[in-house]
Amino acid sequence: MEFQKVLDARFSVREFSDKQVEDEKIQQILKTAQIAPTAKNSQPQKILVIKSDEAMAKFRQCTKCHFDAPLGFVICYDEKESFLGKDGRQFGVLDASIVTTYMMLKATELGLGTTWVGLFDAKQTQQLFNLPQNIIPLAFLPTGYPKEGCQPNPRHFDNKPLDETTKWL
Ligand SMILES: Cc1cc2nc3c(=O)[nH]c(=O)nc-3n(C[C@H](O)[C@H](O)[C@H](O)COP(=O)(O)O)c2cc1C
Repeated sequence: MEFQKVLDARFSVREFSDKQVEDEKIQQILKTAQIAPTAKNSQPQKILVIKSDEAMAKFRQCTKCHFDAPLGFVICYDEKESFLGKDGRQFGVLDASIVTTYMMLKATELGLGTTWVGLFDAKQTQQLFNLPQNIIPLAFLPTGYPKEGCQPNPRHFDNKPLDETTKWL
Protein backbone atom coordinates (compact mmCIF):
# COMPACT_ATOMS: atom_id res chain seq x y z
CA MET A 1 0.00 0.00 0.00
CA GLU A 2 1.24 3.47 -0.81
CA PHE A 3 2.59 5.09 2.38
CA GLN A 4 0.16 8.02 2.38
CA LYS A 5 -2.72 5.56 2.05
CA VAL A 6 -1.49 3.69 5.13
CA LEU A 7 -1.31 6.94 7.10
CA ASP A 8 -4.81 7.92 5.96
CA ALA A 9 -6.25 4.47 6.67
CA ARG A 10 -5.02 4.19 10.27
CA PHE A 11 -7.41 4.94 13.08
CA SER A 12 -7.86 3.53 16.56
CA VAL A 13 -9.80 0.29 16.14
CA ARG A 14 -11.78 -0.68 19.22
CA GLU A 15 -14.03 -3.36 17.72
CA PHE A 16 -12.55 -6.55 16.35
CA SER A 17 -13.74 -9.57 14.42
CA ASP A 18 -13.05 -13.03 15.87
CA LYS A 19 -10.74 -13.89 12.98
CA GLN A 20 -7.29 -14.88 14.21
CA VAL A 21 -4.26 -12.99 12.96
CA GLU A 22 -1.95 -15.18 10.91
CA ASP A 23 1.53 -15.84 12.36
CA GLU A 24 3.00 -14.60 9.06
CA LYS A 25 1.44 -11.20 9.68
CA ILE A 26 2.64 -11.17 13.29
CA GLN A 27 6.16 -11.87 12.00
CA GLN A 28 5.91 -9.00 9.52
CA ILE A 29 4.87 -6.62 12.30
CA LEU A 30 7.79 -7.79 14.46
CA LYS A 31 10.25 -7.38 11.58
CA THR A 32 9.01 -3.83 11.15
CA ALA A 33 9.63 -3.20 14.84
CA GLN A 34 13.15 -4.52 14.30
CA ILE A 35 14.06 -1.79 11.80
CA ALA A 36 12.70 1.18 13.76
CA PRO A 37 15.33 3.79 14.61
CA THR A 38 16.47 3.97 18.24
CA ALA A 39 18.90 6.26 20.04
CA LYS A 40 22.47 5.16 19.30
CA ASN A 41 20.85 2.06 17.77
CA SER A 42 20.46 0.72 21.30
CA GLN A 43 17.27 -1.24 20.40
CA PRO A 44 16.04 -1.48 23.99
CA GLN A 45 12.59 -2.72 22.98
CA LYS A 46 11.20 -5.93 24.42
CA ILE A 47 7.92 -6.98 22.84
CA LEU A 48 5.48 -9.48 24.30
CA VAL A 49 3.28 -11.19 21.71
CA ILE A 50 -0.01 -11.91 23.43
CA LYS A 51 -1.47 -14.84 21.56
CA SER A 52 -2.30 -17.74 23.87
CA ASP A 53 -5.52 -17.74 25.92
CA GLU A 54 -3.42 -17.64 29.09
CA ALA A 55 -1.45 -14.56 27.99
CA MET A 56 -4.60 -12.85 26.74
CA ALA A 57 -6.31 -13.41 30.10
CA LYS A 58 -3.40 -11.59 31.76
CA PHE A 59 -3.47 -8.83 29.12
CA ARG A 60 -7.15 -8.25 29.90
CA GLN A 61 -6.43 -8.14 33.61
CA CYS A 62 -3.92 -5.32 33.06
CA THR A 63 -6.14 -3.00 31.02
CA LYS A 64 -9.79 -2.28 30.47
CA CYS A 65 -8.85 -1.14 26.97
CA HIS A 66 -8.34 -4.61 25.51
CA PHE A 67 -11.43 -4.34 23.29
CA ASP A 68 -11.66 -8.16 23.14
CA ALA A 69 -8.95 -8.17 20.48
CA PRO A 70 -7.78 -11.63 19.43
CA LEU A 71 -4.12 -10.59 19.58
CA GLY A 72 -2.10 -8.12 21.56
CA PHE A 73 1.38 -6.73 21.92
CA VAL A 74 2.95 -5.24 25.01
CA ILE A 75 5.79 -2.98 23.98
CA CYS A 76 8.38 -2.47 26.70
CA TYR A 77 11.88 -1.09 26.88
CA ASP A 78 14.86 -2.27 28.87
CA GLU A 79 16.13 0.53 31.08
CA LYS A 80 19.53 -1.14 31.23
CA GLU A 81 19.86 -1.20 27.44
CA SER A 82 18.41 2.17 26.55
CA PHE A 83 20.60 5.15 25.80
CA LEU A 84 21.12 7.56 28.68
CA GLY A 85 21.93 11.14 27.71
CA LYS A 86 24.68 13.08 29.49
CA ASP A 87 21.97 15.12 31.23
CA GLY A 88 20.42 11.91 32.55
CA ARG A 89 17.65 11.77 29.97
CA GLN A 90 16.46 8.22 29.38
CA PHE A 91 15.70 7.54 25.69
CA GLY A 92 13.86 4.24 26.19
CA VAL A 93 10.43 5.88 26.15
CA LEU A 94 11.17 7.57 22.84
CA ASP A 95 12.61 4.40 21.28
CA ALA A 96 9.68 2.22 22.35
CA SER A 97 7.25 4.88 21.11
CA ILE A 98 8.82 4.85 17.66
CA VAL A 99 8.74 1.05 17.64
CA THR A 100 5.05 1.09 18.60
CA THR A 101 4.26 3.59 15.84
CA TYR A 102 6.05 1.46 13.24
CA MET A 103 4.07 -1.58 14.41
CA MET A 104 0.74 0.25 14.19
CA LEU A 105 1.42 1.43 10.68
CA LYS A 106 2.58 -1.99 9.50
CA ALA A 107 -0.53 -3.56 11.02
CA THR A 108 -2.64 -1.05 9.07
CA GLU A 109 -0.87 -1.94 5.85
CA LEU A 110 -1.67 -5.60 6.52
CA GLY A 111 -5.39 -4.85 6.88
CA LEU A 112 -5.31 -5.06 10.67
CA GLY A 113 -6.48 -2.59 13.27
CA THR A 114 -4.81 -1.49 16.50
CA THR A 115 -5.24 1.04 19.27
CA TRP A 116 -2.33 2.43 21.21
CA VAL A 117 -3.29 1.87 24.84
CA GLY A 118 -1.52 3.86 27.50
CA LEU A 119 -4.07 3.18 30.22
CA PHE A 120 -2.83 -0.02 31.79
CA ASP A 121 -1.58 -1.07 35.19
CA ALA A 122 2.20 -1.11 34.78
CA LYS A 123 2.87 -2.78 38.14
CA GLN A 124 0.40 -5.56 37.48
CA THR A 125 1.84 -6.00 33.98
CA GLN A 126 5.30 -6.48 35.44
CA GLN A 127 3.97 -8.97 37.98
CA LEU A 128 1.69 -11.04 35.74
CA PHE A 129 4.23 -11.29 32.92
CA ASN A 130 7.18 -11.80 35.29
CA LEU A 131 9.05 -8.81 33.95
CA PRO A 132 12.24 -7.81 35.76
CA GLN A 133 12.26 -4.30 37.23
CA ASN A 134 14.37 -2.95 34.35
CA ILE A 135 11.78 -3.95 31.74
CA ILE A 136 9.33 -1.08 31.58
CA PRO A 137 6.01 -1.58 29.75
CA LEU A 138 5.22 1.43 27.58
CA ALA A 139 2.23 0.54 25.41
CA PHE A 140 -0.43 -2.11 24.97
CA LEU A 141 -1.52 -2.75 21.41
CA PRO A 142 -4.75 -4.72 21.03
CA THR A 143 -4.62 -5.96 17.44
CA GLY A 144 -6.85 -7.81 15.03
CA TYR A 145 -9.08 -7.58 12.01
CA PRO A 146 -11.50 -4.67 12.44
CA LYS A 147 -15.12 -5.71 12.93
CA GLU A 148 -17.18 -5.15 9.79
CA GLY A 149 -18.49 -1.61 9.73
CA CYS A 150 -16.09 -0.43 12.45
CA GLN A 151 -15.71 3.33 12.13
CA PRO A 152 -13.23 5.81 13.59
CA ASN A 153 -14.23 7.68 16.71
CA PRO A 154 -15.23 11.27 15.75
CA ARG A 155 -12.11 12.43 17.66
CA HIS A 156 -10.04 10.86 14.91
CA PHE A 157 -11.04 13.68 12.55
CA ASP A 158 -10.54 16.43 15.09
CA ASN A 159 -7.14 17.68 14.01
CA LYS A 160 -5.86 20.98 15.31
CA PRO A 161 -5.09 23.45 12.53
CA LEU A 162 -1.47 23.44 11.46
CA ASP A 163 -0.98 27.07 12.42
CA GLU A 164 -1.81 26.11 16.01
CA THR A 165 0.76 23.32 16.18
CA THR A 166 3.53 24.61 13.94
CA LYS A 167 5.61 27.70 13.54
CA TRP A 168 7.60 28.57 10.43
CA LEU A 169 10.66 30.60 11.36
C1 LIG B 1 0.22 7.62 23.87
C2 LIG B 1 -1.21 7.23 23.56
C3 LIG B 1 -1.98 6.66 24.55
C4 LIG B 1 -3.29 6.25 24.26
N1 LIG B 1 -4.01 5.57 25.22
C5 LIG B 1 -5.25 5.12 24.92
C6 LIG B 1 -5.98 4.34 25.85
O1 LIG B 1 -5.50 4.01 26.93
N2 LIG B 1 -7.21 3.91 25.51
C7 LIG B 1 -7.77 4.20 24.29
O2 LIG B 1 -8.90 3.76 24.03
N3 LIG B 1 -7.09 4.92 23.37
C8 LIG B 1 -5.85 5.38 23.66
N4 LIG B 1 -5.14 6.10 22.71
C9 LIG B 1 -5.74 6.37 21.39
C10 LIG B 1 -6.10 7.84 21.22
O3 LIG B 1 -7.23 8.15 21.98
C11 LIG B 1 -6.31 8.12 19.73
O4 LIG B 1 -5.14 7.85 19.03
C12 LIG B 1 -6.74 9.55 19.45
O5 LIG B 1 -8.00 9.82 20.02
C13 LIG B 1 -6.83 9.84 17.94
O6 LIG B 1 -7.71 8.91 17.34
P1 LIG B 1 -7.20 7.97 16.15
O7 LIG B 1 -6.12 7.07 16.71
O8 LIG B 1 -8.42 7.20 15.76
O9 LIG B 1 -6.67 8.86 15.08
C14 LIG B 1 -3.84 6.50 22.98
C15 LIG B 1 -3.03 7.08 21.98
C16 LIG B 1 -1.74 7.43 22.26
C17 LIG B 1 -0.88 7.99 21.15
